[in-house]
Amino acid sequence: MAFGTDTIKKFETLETPFYYYDLGLLRKTLAALQLAAPPEYHVHYALKANANPELLQLIRDAGLGADCVSGNEVKRANELGFKAEKIVFAGVGKSDKEINDALDIGIFCFNAESTHELEVINELAGKKSKIAPIALRINPNVDAHTHKYITTGLEENKFGINQHEFETVCQLIQSSENLNFCGLHFHIGSQIQDLTAFKNLCLKVNEINQWFIKRGLFPEHINVGGGLGIDYRNPETNSIVDFAQYFNVFKDLLELHPQQKVHFELGRCIVAQCGNLISRALYIKKGINTNFVILDAGMTELIRPALYQAYHKIENISRPNQPLDSKYDVVGPICESSDCFGKSVELPESQRGDLFAIRSAGAYGEVMSNHYNLRVSAKPVYSV
Ligand code: LLP
Repeated sequence: MAFGTDTIKKFETLETPFYYYDLGLLRKTLAALQLAAPPEYHVHYALKANANPELLQLIRDAGLGADCVSGNEVKRANELGFKAEKIVFAGVGKSDKEINDALDIGIFCFNAESTHELEVINELAGKKSKIAPIALRINPNVDAHTHKYITTGLEENKFGINQHEFETVCQLIQSSENLNFCGLHFHIGSQIQDLTAFKNLCLKVNEINQWFIKRGLFPEHINVGGGLGIDYRNPETNSIVDFAQYFNVFKDLLELHPQQKVHFELGRCIVAQCGNLISRALYIKKGINTNFVILDAGMTELIRPALYQAYHKIENISRPNQPLDSKYDVVGPICESSDCFGKSVELPESQRGDLFAIRSAGAYGEVMSNHYNLRVSAKPVYSV
């Protein structure tokens, strides 16, 4: 059980639902990451996983850069003191305002995703008499073998520049006065647990890197994206991912020039396990074939199970030592049948008022919350 009796007593006094962040675990995770990352590797934290300022401050203090996919993420990273020269900005649809603001901040680099975007960035930078640093986001056509909604590196996906466009893109960059080519960017998907996908990525990166060097554009920075998956089934025993094993794949397989620097954009594996969605059982309902625990949290607070059929461990934390001898479908109050956190979940016999923890909710939980059914935002609560 992840929570001590004092913590649960504190939970009893709070209004549910809320996100509970274990900042101690986040600190430990960051320390493990720092220990495992070779000094020449640059890790940018992907704000899209969780942009909560308390968490961001710890992440900034650990020396990470920021990976942003919207103007507001760039703004938040900048306001919270992430150094501009450590901010990267990706995304298939950057608006003119977002590009202009990022140019004013002077970010490290734009990860550009299409020829059309390159033309627009060049024009906007020109109007400001600035040179925009550009990394090309390449679609490497590597299968991440993850959920289809979070696979990004296949030719059928909207992300990145495909191989058939490389020559056009090189000509465009070389003829654009306000673009400075600084590197290549890749990201094949998220929640990747089988490291083979990253191995395949490395082999593709080597090929593409060589192609660009031969073509006369030297990528000083190679950004291999994020995507390292976590163990949703065992958040206790496996609360921190094996960063060393992950970095070793790149150390062993990337064939780079000594002047080339490697960048990462990790999100989920840094923040997922430190977050929990804490909710109270409103009702216990007897169905025909199944019984339901109806919680006061729903897909508005954590949409992952409804959207990706994602598994999150669910615990009745009011009855920590009781046998798991009952089965319930654990659902929320939203008017959608997909508003279900788990089916046939083994739990102790539960009652109205019991507190439940939905584990591993630190990544893509609070950031993806919404106000459907006019729900109000659940608040974050922090461990000391
Ligand atoms: N870099 C880029 C370009 C990305 O698109 C992403 C995630 C990341 C880095 C960070 O990936 P991570 O290390 O967190 O896997 N909402 C989905 C996940 C969407 C991921 C989008 N891109 C979920 O809840 O599973």
